[in-house]
Amino acid sequence: MASNDYKAAYERQRQARMLAEELLENRSRELFEANQSLQYAYNKLKNQKQQIIHQEKLASIGQLSAGVAHEINNPMAYVKSNLTSLARFAKQLNEFHVALEQMLTANTGAEKHPLLGEFQTLKTSFDIDFLLEDITDIVDDCQDGVSRIEGIVKSLKEFSRPEEAKSEIFAVNHCLDTALRLASGSVKLMSVEVDSDKIFYVSGHQGSLAQVFLNLIVNASHATDGQGSLNISMREQKSLVNIRFKDNGCGISEDVRLKIFEPFFTTKPQGQGTGLGLSISHGIIKKHGGIISVDSEVGIGTEFLIQLPLADEPRDL
Ligand SMILES: Nc1ncnc2c1ncn2[C@@H]1O[C@H](COP(=O)(O)OP(=O)(O)OP(=O)(O)O)[C@@H](O)[C@H]1O
Ligand SMILES: [Mg+2]
Repeated sequence: MASNDYKAAYERQRQARMLAEELLENRSRELFEANQSLQYAYNKLKNQKQQIIHQEKLASIGQLSAGVAHEINNPMAYVKSNLTSLARFAKQLNEFHVALEQMLTANTGAEKHPLLGEFQTLKTSFDIDFLLEDITDIVDDCQDGVSRIEGIVKSLKEFSRPEEAKSEIFAVNHCLDTALRLASGSVKLMSVEVDSDKIFYVSGHQGSLAQVFLNLIVNASHATDGQGSLNISMREQKSLVNIRFKDNGCGISEDVRLKIFEPFFTTKPQGQGTGLGLSISHGIIKKHGGIISVDSEVGIGTEFLIQLPLADEPRDL
């Protein structure tokens, strides 16, 4: 009897202990999970804070460049207009010179025009033939330079257009040209080939998309050390445009590939990369209803694929 009591008491104790252990285990699990989600939320907040700081920095750089672009535009307008006048004047001077020469060399019988000799001496001493030829080349070069400056200013304006800018329908091809133009001024550019069979229209922000393209071009330039090649192609696939950036650079290993879209992940030396390029690009493409993916092989190269929904062509109203 006493032995039975003892056994029952022991069993009760064992069950109570098991219950307590189970409770304790549940509690610790809950605590562990709560701690994990807190840690996750903390990391997320930390990343978001850094991203906001970076976005703000980009926004103020954007504002600054938009201001600079605007300031350059004004003097550029009169340089351009004066160059057009100069080109016209140079043409008229040339025509005047030809007419004068024709007048003096016109066949007037056996006699030469009395002023022809003096005209030719003066012409040689002032090097008029060379001047008239060179002035046209100089003006042409200046006009070419001005249109290049105009292109850069336009790219800067598009690039710096704030995020809140109204969504619009635009040609991706044109947006890529903007990014290439911006890249050519800042990075060691490998050979770049663009292959596109038509104009593709998408809806969104040109400036943001140019930022994505620029980042992919700069990354490819770093991966090929400016020596290799980058092929950019655009093709339609159902209601999407597939934009591929294929380089023959160093490639990305499997473990690195898993992290490249994470904010602040970089393999570049300190001070050279913030590791934000692809994470921001990923966000921008997502906002445009698209997808960005990567395929890479170490030592062979990397291909980024952007898929964006096509929009209807803009209509003139
Ligand atoms: N085309 C590429 N070829 C090889 N590696 C690449 C390529 N593009 C990206 N990477 C890898 O992905 C990493 C992250 O790229 P991401 O653009 O996000 O940052 P980053 O270029 O390092 O810095 P930044 O913020 O200046 O763009 C790079 O550090 C690099 O290791
Ligand atoms: Mg980058």
